[in-house]
Amino acid sequence: MRRYLIAGNWKMNYTPSEARQYSRILKAMGLQDFSSEILLCPSYVSIQALVDSLRGTPVKLGGQNLHQESKGAFTGEISGEMLKDSGCEYVLVGHSERRQYFHETDELVYKKILRAHESGLVPIMCIGETLEEREKGEMHDVITRQLQRVKNLDQEIVSHLVIAYEPIWAIGTGKTASAEQAQEVHQFIRNILDKHVGAAISSTLRILYGGSVKTTNAKALLSEKDIDGLLIGGASLKAEDFYTIIQIADQLL
Ligand code: PGA
Repeated sequence: MRRYLIAGNWKMNYTPSEARQYSRILKAMGLQDFSSEILLCPSYVSIQALVDSLRGTPVKLGGQNLHQESKGAFTGEISGEMLKDSGCEYVLVGHSERRQYFHETDELVYKKILRAHESGLVPIMCIGETLEEREKGEMHDVITRQLQRVKNLDQEIVSHLVIAYEPIWAIGTGKTASAEQAQEVHQFIRNILDKHVGAAISSTLRILYGGSVKTTNAKALLSEKDIDGLLIGGASLKAEDFYTIIQIADQLL
């Protein structure tokens, strides 16, 4: 049984004070032990605020990116070791905004997965096609290419990997993939993983869906067989909505 992972990606939002305020709202609603794993990925400067304000709750923390080297002269960058030491357990790797605005390639994403693992972090590898690629019928090729290097990863790394399928046309646009569309791709991803790492491991890996997830579509998405959690941008910024989605997931398990 794969445990749901419900993750919030705050992107470049929320200062440390706003992060503390968010935690207060979340805690007031009740942060008991949920059946799902709960994760928040704040900006780097707000990690400490969440570590302090969410101490003793089941909410885990993750970084939104990391550098592929462990340290050195890379002004403005952050290492996996820094994230780990700050209290993070997870890190997003290759988010489409990183690929689009910061030119991250599949090769770089692969290096970052290795680095994340060496730093003791669980990488959440983000993949997904653009609208143009989908309309041209290239979606399966794009996903296949993005997952190509997974077969080079050691079993130890692969067995902890989380994949997030985020169709780029659905991110921040209000256009969600329907649950059926998402399931179709998730199953395709699972089949590729079967080939790359073997069915025994692939069946345990979590594949999250992301892209305009809201309180209104979370249930349908999570009800699909190969959707094992959600990566939520906009809707995770409202503590009430994030909490509602956590509850929806809990009722399904
Ligand atoms: P969204 O973002 O939920 O605002 O579409 C998802 C993401 O980019 O991770």
